[in-house]
Amino acid sequence: MKRNLGPVNALYPSLITIVGAVVDGKPNFLAVAHVGIMNHGQPQYLSFGINKNHHTPKGILEHREFSVCIPGENLVVETDYVGLVTGRNTDKSQVFELFQGELEHAPLIQGCPVCMECRLARVVDFETHDVFIGEIVATHAEESVLREDGTIDIARVRPLLFDMASIKYWSLGAEVAPCWNVGKQLKATRRG
Ligand SMILES: Cc1cc2nc3c(=O)[nH]c(=O)nc-3n(C[C@H](O)[C@H](O)[C@H](O)COP(=O)(O)O)c2cc1C
Repeated sequence: MKRNLGPVNALYPSLITIVGAVVDGKPNFLAVAHVGIMNHGQPQYLSFGINKNHHTPKGILEHREFSVCIPGENLVVETDYVGLVTGRNTDKSQVFELFQGELEHAPLIQGCPVCMECRLARVVDFETHDVFIGEIVATHAEESVLREDGTIDIARVRPLLFDMASIKYWSLGAEVAPCWNVGKQLKATRRG
């Protein structure tokens, strides 16, 4: 028996990211949970929605560059902090140790196991939010979270997941089955 909850967006949990940009000459960061994967070709694009009142979009729009970093569970306090206070009245430039990649205006967080630098590709004006679509220029990952074949091991990243219903950060669980693979057993029984 299911209950109709009305128009509740139930696309949770979502990955918690920290988006960074240079605003008025200073790095600024905010927590962003409303992230999306736009494609899986080349170039690769990602998207996220940011409230128009936030401070960070000013820098994204000025330089058309930004960073998207994935914090591990050990950075939960700092992640929540940059999602609680605004750069409009609080200097968040010293919260993290930073490094620079290929882009001048995409501040990258040393303590995050995975960081992406992006060039702004498109902005979609959507009611209270702007949806930013970025082309991924480079992805930096700690050696310690990489498998031997150079791919990112999500279990070692220990990402934070956000749930709107409980308003809590959650951790990743165990793997369940291989993708594009486990369904083959059903496919085999359903020929024709
Ligand atoms: C867990 C969490 C997730 C958040 N996700 C988003 C989001 O997806 N989009 C958004 O606009 N704000 C989001 N926020 C709110 C911003 O991070 C927050 O308002 C921040 O202080 C804005 O900073 P700024 O004004 O310096 O840009 C989130 C906050 C938290 C704590």
